[in-house]
Amino acid sequence: MATLADTGLAFTTLPHPAPASDEQRAAVLANPGFGSHFTDHMVVIEWSEGTGWHDATLGPRGPLALDPAAAVLHYAQEIFEGLKAYVQADGSVSLFRPEANARRFNDSARRLAMPELPEALFIEAIERLVRADRGWIPEGEGASLYLRPFMIATEAFLGVRPAKSYKFIVIASPAGNYFKSGSPAVSIWVSDYVRAAPGGTGAAKCGGNYAASLVPQGEAIARGHDQVVFLDAVERKWIEELGGMNLYFVFADGTLLTPELTGTILPGITRDSLLTLAREEGLQVIEGRYSMDEWRADTASGKLLETFACGTAAVVTPVGKVCGHDGDFEIGTGGPGQLTQKLKARLVAIQRGQESDTHGWVRKIA
Ligand code: PLP
Ligand code: COI
Repeated sequence: MATLADTGLAFTTLPHPAPASDEQRAAVLANPGFGSHFTDHMVVIEWSEGTGWHDATLGPRGPLALDPAAAVLHYAQEIFEGLKAYVQADGSVSLFRPEANARRFNDSARRLAMPELPEALFIEAIERLVRADRGWIPEGEGASLYLRPFMIATEAFLGVRPAKSYKFIVIASPAGNYFKSGSPAVSIWVSDYVRAAPGGTGAAKCGGNYAASLVPQGEAIARGHDQVVFLDAVERKWIEELGGMNLYFVFADGTLLTPELTGTILPGITRDSLLTLAREEGLQVIEGRYSMDEWRADTASGKLLETFACGTAAVVTPVGKVCGHDGDFEIGTGGPGQLTQKLKARLVAIQRGQESDTHGWVRKIA
């Protein structure tokens, strides 16, 4: 029996005056897309200097009242996470590695000079929301409830220093595939812009990183691509990651490579899970450096067979085409490679309770 994480902080539960009807919910769940539909409820927890975390509420989702001088609106003091709740093969509901998201959230909080949230409270807030909005979890291949915990600086003050008050909020969004269905593999644009520099915030999941990626992401879309790939800021040579996903490279000799965590790359939880699964498959996995020139040359010579992107939203998505100012190339047959499919199948089977969870990754919550 799943039990609720209990942190001792009392939650106030506010009734929703007008939740979505069964018909409205069914219409959304039939075709959720990604990120544009939301459930009935949200969790809000306040923090202020001196008091710490207080006033935890599970209530109706709705607009926030913010002072126009709130620090988040001026200096982007904001962090977020992304994780999913899945309906399991046995009908229960589980989260995948929420402790890892809680830890990364606090890593991000420290980098953005924000208060840390007890990991148990992070998980309790998510569990309460998922239980309240249990009826919003879509079922079927690729479907889940995407959870978006985030924290914003709310203090009304225009001096540049860490704020003295914050809100932690969790919202939920029924989700299908991140990329438009039907495309066998995504197409990538090699950006001339830089996402993250040494000493910057690249390893933190802060909104500012994504704001800075919007011009390059917009360029990619305008040129007909799905995502942008960023190279390192110093030599403009080493492959780092996509705008919202990590990368893996699969070689003909059976080895796998993913860019090492240098401080400028987001340490993805999917990336980390795949490191474990691939090693279990007997593959040699290297966390190392890989250059744009090597990627192109190895694809041409047949040394590299597959490339895939991975992340919570994207799960495991093959990269079929790479385009940039130095020319274009196609990877493999332009569709999903064998190892990409195999690793994806194992990850998804664990996330959805179709394969036993030998790593303690799956947390049953309802
Ligand atoms: N890299 C970036 C920039 C991301 O936004 C994400 C998504 O969260 C990832 C990588 C993958 O991280 P995870 O697997 O934890 O979702
Ligand atoms: C995720 O995979 O959770 C992300 O945050 C990627 C993107 C939607 C920002």
